[in-house]
Amino acid sequence: MSKPSPQFLSAASADLQKAAQLLADGECVALPTETVYGLAADALNPKALAQVFAIKGRPLLDPLIVHVLDVEALKQVAEYDARLEKISSFWPGPLTVVLRRKSCVPDLVTAGQETVAVRIPAHPVFREVLRLAQRPLAAPSANPFGYVSPTRAQHVRDSLAERCPWIVDGGACEHGLESTIIDLSSPERVRLLRPGPITLEALRDKLGAIEVVTKIASNQVAQAAPGMLERHYSPATRVELFAHGKLPSVVEARSALLLMSRRQNIPAGTEVFYLSENDSVNEAAANLFDLLRKLDARGFTKIYAELAEPMGLGLAYNDRLTRAAAR
Ligand code: TXA
Ligand code: MG
Repeated sequence: MSKPSPQFLSAASADLQKAAQLLADGECVALPTETVYGLAADALNPKALAQVFAIKGRPLLDPLIVHVLDVEALKQVAEYDARLEKISSFWPGPLTVVLRRKSCVPDLVTAGQETVAVRIPAHPVFREVLRLAQRPLAAPSANPFGYVSPTRAQHVRDSLAERCPWIVDGGACEHGLESTIIDLSSPERVRLLRPGPITLEALRDKLGAIEVVTKIASNQVAQAAPGMLERHYSPATRVELFAHGKLPSVVEARSALLLMSRRQNIPAGTEVFYLSENDSVNEAAANLFDLLRKLDARGFTKIYAELAEPMGLGLAYNDRLTRAAAR
């Protein structure tokens, strides 16, 4: 068990009041969301935003997601788009939408672009802090730039240490993968910038055609969403991927094998870890970042990780694993 630290706040109402006050005063506070932990700051306060970039070591050209309580609050930072009505059932939830910005949004949030990414989170702790702080909150994932996102309060503590002054502990995140990002800033088309818990299939059901621009390794894409850099979400240990159900026959000594279900014929010389025991991609996604962090601390020569079937949440899961494996 980790030692309690003064920087942890609980989800009790007095602590959430304190978190909201800190945010209103221009401090950064790590908060749980239903996807991953975010490093929150007042989205309209450039000084607070500058701290977010400094704490994460994040390049200023990588824009931030603004979190708001509801569509009314969204209209204060972004131009409303009629297509939002079609996807209203996904909010509050793990969906981020890129829209035309309003002029009150600082350039630090948008990286100087004319668009802003907005999401209405579902996590009750994050929502309560939004209500109390009465301002939009910018929040990137609360990890050092390029490293695995945090899905537990202790992950934030482990990788940001004293640089992150306050962390609200809301337990483990439900989804464990970052929100789906779609771009609605052009009236002519919808683009998927990052696959996530709201699946491409579900979005196409509501919106019709969606252009997928998340293909790994394109520099153009890296400009559209710098978080989509090929190498991202990366542990220090090398990661090698294998197709769903197709175990590697030869593995390096002292390696770890990451599986999505119980299997026969495990190659010798490897230690086995289960993301799920019955092929549940939801469960595997929720455990992925926690397990990658744990294994990264164990000094394995390599992590062999099983990909999911490439559909539904499997697209987001494979996307994060593929980036973790990129060198
Ligand atoms: O689930 C999530 O979205 C989490 C939680 C904390 O809400 N946040 C998160 O933020 O993943 P971050 O900063 O780690 O990833 C945000 C991504 C980045 O890839 C960024 O480039 C992209 O969103 N982004 C932000 N604003 C954008 C914009 N105006 N246009 C295109 N991409 C944008
Ligand atoms: Mg991130």
